[in-house]
Amino acid sequence: MEKLNWRSAASNIEGHSSASQSLKEQVQARFELAQDLVREAGEFVKKELAQPLEVACKSDRTDLVTNLDLAVQDILIKGISQVFPEDTFLAEELAEQADVFSGAVWVLDPIDGTNNLVAQQENFAIMLAFFNHGQPGFAFIYDVMGQILLSGGGVLPVTCNGQPFEGQAACVRVNQSLVAGNSAMLRDNAFGLADIARDSLGVRVYGSAGISFLKVLQGKLLTYASYLQPWDYAAAYVLAPALGYRFLEAQGQALRFEGKQPVFLVPQHLEDYFLEKIRGGGRDAFSGRI
Ligand code: IPD
Ligand code: CA
Ligand code: CA
Repeated sequence: MEKLNWRSAASNIEGHSSASQSLKEQVQARFELAQDLVREAGEFVKKELAQPLEVACKSDRTDLVTNLDLAVQDILIKGISQVFPEDTFLAEELAEQADVFSGAVWVLDPIDGTNNLVAQQENFAIMLAFFNHGQPGFAFIYDVMGQILLSGGGVLPVTCNGQPFEGQAACVRVNQSLVAGNSAMLRDNAFGLADIARDSLGVRVYGSAGISFLKVLQGKLLTYASYLQPWDYAAAYVLAPALGYRFLEAQGQALRFEGKQPVFLVPQHLEDYFLEKIRGGGRDAFSGRI
C-alpha cells in the first residue's frame, strides 16, 4: 500500500484545508505512523527487559503497573500527538480519558498482561485502536515476544506481520476447539461460559486479553470471554468483523467504551449457539446482539 506523507496529511486534517483528501487517506496516514510506533515500542520493551523492572501496585497487590507500561504509553501518545495534535486518547494509564464517540480518538493498552510481563517476561501485548467519531478505523494487537503483529481492520485490510491475513473463523468447530476466559466466569458458569467450555476440547487461561483475542482471531481458540475495560477490547473489536468474528455483550447492552463490560469474541457463524448458551447460563445471564 502506498505510504503517505504524515506531515502533509496531518496539516490537511487539522486545518480541514483539503476537502479532496479522503477519509481513507487520513486514516491511512495515521495507520502508517501508528504501525511504526507500535513496532518501535515493542523493540524498546524487548531491550529494556534486560534491566530490572520498576513495579508499582495500583488498586491491590495483583493490579500492577511498571515503568514499561508508562514508557510504551508515552512513546505512542507523544509520537501520535507530534503529528496529530488534535487527536485524543483513552489509555489505561492516563488520568483523563477521551470520549471515543467524539473526534479522532486512540484507545490504548500499552502493556496488556502486565502480570505476565512481571512474572514471565512474555505473553503480553501492546494494543492500539483508532476511532473517528466512534467509527472503527484500524487497530493493532502486538504479541511482542511472540513477534506477531495483527494490524488493520475497520476501513483497512487485515495483515499479520505485514502479510495479507484471512480469518479462519468459518472453519472453527465448538467440539474441536479450546475456550479461554475469565476464571471467575468459568467457576460461576456466568453467561454459560462453563457450559460452553464443557462442549469444547478444554479451557486455557492466558492472563492477557490481547494474547487471548489474538489466538481467537487466528482460529486457535473458539472464544475469549471476560469482564473488560475499553482498552482491553477496543483493538479486537475493530479487527473482528473483517476476520469473521463478532463481539457479544453478554448482558445485551451496547459497548459503552467506559467501565467494565462482559464481552465474548465469537465466530460469526456460531453466534446463535453462543447466544443460546449465554442466555441459559449462570446468574448474570441475559444476552443480546450489539
Ligand atoms: C488485564 C489482562 C487480564 C484480564 C484483566 C485485564 P492488564 O490487563 O488482560 O488478562 O483478565 O481484566 O485488566 O491490566 O494487564 O493491562
Ligand atoms: Ca495494561
Ligand atoms: Ca489490559
